[in-house]
Amino acid sequence: MLTEVTATRYVTPLREGGSLPGIVEADDLGTYVMKFTGAGQGRKTLVAEVICGELGRRLGLRVPDLVTIQLDPVIGLSEPDQEVQELLKASGGLNLGMDFLPGSLGFDPLAYEVSAAEAGKVVWFDALINNVDRSWRNPNMLVWHGDLWLIDHGATMIWHHNWPGAAASAAKPYDASDHALAPFGPDVAAAAAELAPLVTEELLTEVAADVPDEWLVDEPGFDSTDALRRSYVEALLPRAATIHERITLNPPTKSRPSQAPGWLTEHATPWPHAPKKHAQTDEKDARR
Ligand SMILES: Nc1ncnc2c1ncn2[C@@H]1O[C@H](COP(=O)(O)OP(=O)(O)OP(=O)(O)O)[C@@H](O)[C@H]1O
Ligand SMILES: [Mg+2]
Repeated sequence: MLTEVTATRYVTPLREGGSLPGIVEADDLGTYVMKFTGAGQGRKTLVAEVICGELGRRLGLRVPDLVTIQLDPVIGLSEPDQEVQELLKASGGLNLGMDFLPGSLGFDPLAYEVSAAEAGKVVWFDALINNVDRSWRNPNMLVWHGDLWLIDHGATMIWHHNWPGAAASAAKPYDASDHALAPFGPDVAAAAAELAPLVTEELLTEVAADVPDEWLVDEPGFDSTDALRRSYVEALLPRAATIHERITLNPPTKSRPSQAPGWLTEHATPWPHAPKKHAQTDEKDARR
């Protein structure tokens, strides 16, 4: 079970997030990035955040703490933005919170070096959960106190959108050519050797148990929330054993524009290519 807190103040929307997450303060004096049950992306996004976030943390990857947040929409009454007002109104009850990392920076490959070992673990983990949202365009990683942190696991486990086809979908390969850490030469074989044995039925059952019942009820084809939890376990367990054999990684290319401000990148250690090259967009990337 995740810790449950109650929102006491809606601080501000995070405009860079597609689902319009907001920063809220809670009664435990914590500050959280809140993902709303009323957001257009739907509650399955929140289920994915919990299962994958908690799984990643248990595998030793850095994921900010997750909590559930009780929201009384009345706390947003003074919010002037109508879109935010409507989101709050549609999200009374239990929402998801991720510990806010103050002063963190969005990951940029020019400003931050990642070892092949760490890159391998992240790519392997993303392959396991079928994360389509950690590309160089939208890395969904933060750098905080010099370490890499993983956020935003909402666009994962595509199979939970079509349970009858889940086993076939979870058996599919993973294309990591666009992955934000692909250029760091990820050592996927070493990651699989270390992490795959940790992904046991017990561990998966434990992370599935962290999902609140409210986000699982009334799923067509399931007569209980535990039966649905079981399906998450059954999709991930066989995938963990063999997914490393089905990961596509192109040869590293760094000819992509940096998204970091100049003050951040101009003194960065160039690795393994010169920064000037990164400022250009090559023809292939321009066509994407
Ligand atoms: N825990 C955190 N601490 C600090 N900033 C955060 C945290 N979580 C998210 N952010 C900031 O908020 C932005 C949006 O968050 P997130 O990517 O989780 O939202 P989203 O709506 O799922 O976005 P997307 O558009 O990628 O689908 C991030 O890019 C990051 O800048
Ligand atoms: Mg995001």
